[in-house]
Amino acid sequence: MLNSRLAIPIVKAKGAYLYAQDGTAYLDAISSWWVNLHGHAHPYIATKIAAQAEDLEHVMFAGFTHLPAIELGEKLTSLAGMDKIFYSDNGSTAIETALKMALQYWYNRGEKRIKFLSLKEGYHGETFGAMSASGKNHFNQPFWDHLFPVESIDPPFMGREEQFLNALQNILNTGQIAAFIFEPLILGPGGMKIYSKQALDSAIKLCKEKDVITIADEVMTGFGRTGPLFACDALEQKPDILCLSKGITGGFLPLGATLCKQEIYNAFLSPSLSKAFLHGHSYTANPLACATALASLELLLNETSQEQRKMIESCHRKFCQKFQSHPALVRCELLGTILILEYKSSGAPGYFSSVKDRLYEYFLDQKLLIRPFGNIVHIIPPYCITPEELEQIYNHLTITIENHR
Ligand SMILES: Cc1ncc(COP(=O)(O)O)c(C=O)c1O
Repeated sequence: MLNSRLAIPIVKAKGAYLYAQDGTAYLDAISSWWVNLHGHAHPYIATKIAAQAEDLEHVMFAGFTHLPAIELGEKLTSLAGMDKIFYSDNGSTAIETALKMALQYWYNRGEKRIKFLSLKEGYHGETFGAMSASGKNHFNQPFWDHLFPVESIDPPFMGREEQFLNALQNILNTGQIAAFIFEPLILGPGGMKIYSKQALDSAIKLCKEKDVITIADEVMTGFGRTGPLFACDALEQKPDILCLSKGITGGFLPLGATLCKQEIYNAFLSPSLSKAFLHGHSYTANPLACATALASLELLLNETSQEQRKMIESCHRKFCQKFQSHPALVRCELLGTILILEYKSSGAPGYFSSVKDRLYEYFLDQKLLIRPFGNIVHIIPPYCITPEELEQIYNHLTITIENHR
């Protein structure tokens, strides 16, 4: 069983591999929960962290500032087409910041808009606001009594776009929605489900017409996972707030960022402190994390990384073409560097499917780090992976597909 197996002690990592105490090398096919971008223990990033640690390791980010935070803010806002940045510690706090920002935006304007709208089966993190905005499931059930109510609608999966837009329109017409939060193009931990880009574009447009703030959660999709730098780059309409974490430091250090448009920021400008966004964390804009993120961005923007992402996508596509209509699978699809396989499941589908344990054990025995969500397997490799290593992953996926009953 997944949760009864003893944790494997890892003592070293290099490139796409994690090395265990007993010498086993595990090929990391999921970038250690999607945080790693360029390979483990990348020497360039390690050098930059060491250099930053010698200059300035931390300073409180209230009344003080520093170059790595300024430079990173300028780069990220410019790349994402946003205007301002607020730093926190991880994906959940980036979301929590966005939710509080949206609520206080309306509070500062003296308008009573206190409801959020989200996508059913979405996932936004583990803090209470993030759990409230996420789909309700076994993971957050013990806390349901303590979560605030959030309106939610079915995502625009293919063929369901019209129902989605109608449901959205009805909710927006109530005039009570403060903000609409969504994971752009793909629901991540909620089952790696891809949905309609066109419908999301229309939804953001409708929200703008009704002055509803749009919050894009790019914690998983950011930094090239879906192809472009951000999943929102594929959209015509841009969100008002964008949340980033995971790949932001290339997988080295925890950091969250909530980016917003000038108009959101302006609602907090006042000579009175009562309108200020009085939110902060001890490690907000930690200089080591910011310097790491700058080094990671440099690697991400160079040609090699872009070519690697194209290579991964093209290898995934070839694999998918072979297995698109295999009888053992419900689906085999991809979005950029993300490959998704959903195995048919005779028992309970979803996270608690028994298929999960069987697959996880098999992959570990084959020295592959792949962690299925129930009967759904995803491959999100670090960008340094080679075609040969991808082939090795596909070969084992093929064996599991051919033997699936
Ligand atoms: C889309 C999305 N949002 C938010 C989070 C929460 O991020 P963290 O685990 O860093 O708190 C995750 C984590 O998996 C995520 O995938």
